[in-house]
Amino acid sequence: MIPAIRGTHDILPGDVEKWQFVERLARELCERYGYVEIRTPIIEREELFAKGTGESTDIVQKEMYTFTDKGGERVTLRPEATPSMVRSYIEHNLEHTMPAAKLYAMGPMFRYERPQKGRYRQFHQLDIEAFGMQDPAVDAEVIDLAWSLITGLGIPQAELVINSVGCATCRPVFQKALLDALGDNLGNLCGDCQRRSVTNPLRIYDCKVPADQPIIDALPHSIDYLCESCATHFTGVKTHLDAIGIIWRQSHRLVRGLDYYTRTTFEVLGQTLGAQNALLGGGRYDGLVKQLGGADKTGIGFAAGMERLVLALPESAPIAAPGRAFVVAIGEDGRAAAWQLIRELRQAGLPAQMELEARGVRAQMKRADRLATRVTLIVGGDELARGEVTLRDMARGEQRAVARDAVVTAVRELL
Ligand code: HAM
Repeated sequence: MIPAIRGTHDILPGDVEKWQFVERLARELCERYGYVEIRTPIIEREELFAKGTGESTDIVQKEMYTFTDKGGERVTLRPEATPSMVRSYIEHNLEHTMPAAKLYAMGPMFRYERPQKGRYRQFHQLDIEAFGMQDPAVDAEVIDLAWSLITGLGIPQAELVINSVGCATCRPVFQKALLDALGDNLGNLCGDCQRRSVTNPLRIYDCKVPADQPIIDALPHSIDYLCESCATHFTGVKTHLDAIGIIWRQSHRLVRGLDYYTRTTFEVLGQTLGAQNALLGGGRYDGLVKQLGGADKTGIGFAAGMERLVLALPESAPIAAPGRAFVVAIGEDGRAAAWQLIRELRQAGLPAQMELEARGVRAQMKRADRLATRVTLIVGGDELARGEVTLRDMARGEQRAVARDAVVTAVRELL
């Protein structure tokens, strides 16, 4: 046996229905909010993520699946979708053909992390990105879509956390204040924080080391250093959220682990996932399109971890497979008639099966039960002679004869 690679997993029947439920709602919501699907390659040039995700991030420093291909090119299995979406937006001139582009994508991402519940090396994201719009209403609409996904899935006790990390004007002022406040304490922080103080001081807020927390708790908050336009923007986002009754909590520690964020950042946290409690996260990245060689266009989006959404689904999630019909054949005549009948049902758009390898009636009935069949049709010599089949409504435990040419209609009514 050659087992699957650590941190990757098969999604088996029984679980895949949950995935389909999540994917169905995700697509439906994206379309409802005016997003259109885009599919980009899983493999990209390494430099796209080095520049896009950011050299100072854990993702680029430690977690990328990067290798040299047979042509000598350095390529990376995408660790996130945002840089690919931005690349595609620039490469295909979408700023002209789709002004105010609202795009979504779903698919696998790869990060070489330490696997644990809710954290994998191959995982899947729903990613949405909105380009070229600055109004706080856009931030609020993106957050509304994220929140609607959580509530639509019936995930209980989730919490929306928001923050603003400022822009190229006010961020440096805040960073300086942060480093000034740290002062001599910098040497008392963990090695990671000392490194972050040089590469991206905001990320000190990501630190989980217990001994560092008293020092970090005393540091200044980005929202107290926002320039006037960032402060107005953030107030606008909150006003728009309040107007539609979305409840948020502001946290100065929500700086997010990627380098490109400006202004609004947000996450939705779940209660059932232990340490990996972020169901989704995102924010605005107003400098990224330009940084990757495009026009000076703004962007905002989020990505939800599909594995985490599936794990957080409530027991009551409506994931039951749709009703099915099963045709039980008695004798050789019955088998020939059943063969025609399943074809007829399928052509009419109804899910129908029979036992293709000849079996006794009892074995066929057992299989109908195992498949959680909604309707069983029994086709045998006697019934056929009368131009009928027997229809058993498995949910109600009732049975009746139905004219052969009325079977499709009768089954359709029950499925
Ligand atoms: P991120 O916070 O790195 O953001 O990931 C978003 C979500 O993906 C997380 O909240 C989590 O649910 C899921 N996730 C991340 N890593 C793993 C993993 N190893 N195993 C399972 N699930 C995971 C981004 O990726 C940004 N591109 C989001 C974004 C889009 N920002 C703007 N636009």
